Amino acid sequence: MGDSPKIKIGIIGGSGFDDPTLFENQIEKDVTTPFGKPSDVLIEGQIKGVPCVLLARHGRKHQFQPSDVNYRANIWALKQVGCTHVLATTATGSLVEEYKPGDLVILNDFIDRTWGRKCTFYDRTEGGPKGVCHLPMRPAFCERARNAMITAAKARGYSHHETGTAVVIQGPRFSSRAESLMHRQWGGHLVNMTTVPEVVLAKEAGLSYAAVALVTDYDCWRENETSVSVSEVLAMFAKNVKKAADVIIDAVQVLAAETDLEYLSAHKELVSSAIMLKE
Ligand code: ADE
Repeated sequence: MGDSPKIKIGIIGGSGFDDPTLFENQIEKDVTTPFGKPSDVLIEGQIKGVPCVLLARHGRKHQFQPSDVNYRANIWALKQVGCTHVLATTATGSLVEEYKPGDLVILNDFIDRTWGRKCTFYDRTEGGPKGVCHLPMRPAFCERARNAMITAAKARGYSHHETGTAVVIQGPRFSSRAESLMHRQWGGHLVNMTTVPEVVLAKEAGLSYAAVALVTDYDCWRENETSVSVSEVLAMFAKNVKKAADVIIDAVQVLAAETDLEYLSAHKELVSSAIMLKE
């Protein structure tokens, strides 16, 4: 006890963390990275003594649509200020009956349907890392951070699913019915617009990353139902986002109580072993 904290947790989401008493010793940091500026200022502080950094993925005014978010700057900025973990929230549509609006899902895999997004740090950007990085994506998410979220969701008694594959679409439009049916056939449980490249970049940065998805709608695959709408997504999100935030806040404590931090070195070693043509 009394040791300096060995972990620092980045939180990507924004909504649901508005309680002004949540962050102790809060300061705002306006940072820049070799990949440009993150979506907004970093809000640094402690949650029950654990160092945390909050970042609004779309900006605090929600000014960036999913394909315009500077995911590289967001992840790099969190790494730059010393984060070891990133815990994220994401609104998702459901592709299966059992994952109901209002449920939480601790993601464990993804199918990438995005295009044109900058999805690697290894592109010779000045000030960025060197080499060519072929990173394995199984597992896509950090199991230890996922388990911390699962423990938190269970303890809260929130309706949740321990696994889920998110089909990540480019947006900003929602899927057509034929696309939605295809995503179901592919084995997707959920659909959203932001998990890729966020999870990929966090892995490239050697960080422990997990995401809790909040189901807001049934997309548009069900018989006799109209398509998902923005008002539906926003209403369900507002009603349930506190549950996702609670899971992250409690997962922070679960992770901080762990003494075996070998997995953090393993994340970094995985990246080193995936790089070719290092100078
Ligand atoms: N985010 C929330 N619901 C969604 C849906 N149905 N498709 C894509 N992204 C979403």
